[in-house]
Amino acid sequence: MSRIRSAKRVSAFADSVFGEMTRLAKLHSAVNLSQGFPDFEAPQSIKDAACTAIQAEQNQYAPPYGTVAFREAIAADFTRRYGVPVVPDEQVTVCCGSTEAMMAAMLACIDPGDEVIIFEPFYENYGPDAIIAGAEPRYIRMREPEWQFDPDELKAAFNNRTRAIVINSPNNPTGKVYTRDELTLIASLCQKWDVLAISDEIYERIVYHGHAHVPMASIPGMADRTITTNGLSKTYSVTGWRIGWAISPPSLTGGIRKMHDFLTVAAPTPFHDAGVAAMSLSDSFYTELAGDYQKKRDLMLDILGRHGFTASSPGGAYYVMAGISRFGFTSDSEFAQYLVKEIGVATVPGSSFYIDPATAPQSVRFCFSKKDETLFEADRRLARLSVISG
Ligand SMILES: Cc1ncc(COP(=O)(O)O)c(C=O)c1O
Repeated sequence: MSRIRSAKRVSAFADSVFGEMTRLAKLHSAVNLSQGFPDFEAPQSIKDAACTAIQAEQNQYAPPYGTVAFREAIAADFTRRYGVPVVPDEQVTVCCGSTEAMMAAMLACIDPGDEVIIFEPFYENYGPDAIIAGAEPRYIRMREPEWQFDPDELKAAFNNRTRAIVINSPNNPTGKVYTRDELTLIASLCQKWDVLAISDEIYERIVYHGHAHVPMASIPGMADRTITTNGLSKTYSVTGWRIGWAISPPSLTGGIRKMHDFLTVAAPTPFHDAGVAAMSLSDSFYTELAGDYQKKRDLMLDILGRHGFTASSPGGAYYVMAGISRFGFTSDSEFAQYLVKEIGVATVPGSSFYIDPATAPQSVRFCFSKKDETLFEADRRLARLSVISG
C-alpha cells in the first residue's frame, strides 16, 4: 500500500454533514436552515471595533493567549454574572473559536486510553475531538420529549478510565437546558470518580422563559475541575470571526495554552478588541437577544406544527429537532435530501447527531437563527410538503 495516504485516524471520521447540507442548499437555492449561523447583522459597535483595530495596524500575531484587555473582560464578565472568581492571567486562554478551545482542552487534559463521556445527540465535534486526543468516547443517550438522560445509565458509564465528561448546555441540537439538579448529579459523579468536566456554554445567552443557564463551574466543588468553553460566535452573530476561549483551573491552563500555541499560535488579532467591545455591551442587548430568539423559536414551532412535524419546545440555543414520522420516509437522511432538493429547505438529519444513526429517532434539525423573512419563506415552501405528502 502506498505510504502517500491519509492517516488511519482520518478514516474514522465522516465528512461534515453541515458543510454538505450548506453546499446542497446553494445548489438548489434552498432556504438554509441547516448550519448554525445567523443570516442577520452583527452589532455595529463590535464591527466598528474590529475595523478600527485593522486600520490601527493591529494586523500581526496577537499575544498567544489573548490580549490582556480581552482576557480581563472575559474573566470579569464570568465572575460578575456567576460569582465564580477567574484570574485572567492564570485561567483564560483565547482560542480560534470555542471549537479550538474544546480541542485544545482535550489534547491538554486527556491521555490515550482514557474514556470521555459524551451525551448524545451531540454536537458533531465532540466525538472526533476525543478520538484525536486518543480517548474512547462513551455515549449517554438523552431521550425525547424532555431530552433527559437516565441517571443509572450515567452512573454506570463512569469508571477508573473515565477522564472527562463533556456537557453542552444550552444544548445543540436538542435545545435542552440542563437543570441544576442534573448538573449536580453530574458534578457528584465527577467528584466521586475524580473526573474533569468540559462544559461548552456557547449558547449561554440564548435561554428562554422558564429556563436558566447554570454554569458547571458554579456548582459547588466544580470550579477546580471544570473547563468552560465559550466564544463570540453565537451571542454576537460572528461565527466567521473564529474567536472563543477556555476558562480553566490554573493547574490546567499551561497545558491548554501549549496546545493552543502549537495548533494555531493565536486567534485573529483585530477581533480581540472587538471582543472587548462585545463584553461591554449593556445588559439590555442580551435581554433583547434572548427575547428576539424566543419569538423566532415560537414562530419556528408554529411553522413546524402547521406542516406536520412534531417537536418539543427548546429551552435554549437556536435549534429544534423535528419528528418526521408523518411523512412516510424510511430515513431522515432521505427526507432531508428530499426537503433540500424538492421543497427547497435545507435541514440536518437528526440521526447525524448520534454515533449509530440506525438507532436514532427519525428527525431533522431546523436552525432558526434567521431573519423572520427567511423563516416566512421556509414556511411558504414547507406548505408544499403538506400538499405533496397529502
Ligand atoms: C455546541 C456548539 N459548540 C461549539 C460550536 C462552535 O463554536 P465556535 O464558532 O466558537 O467554534 C457550535 C457551533 O455550531 C456549537 O453548536
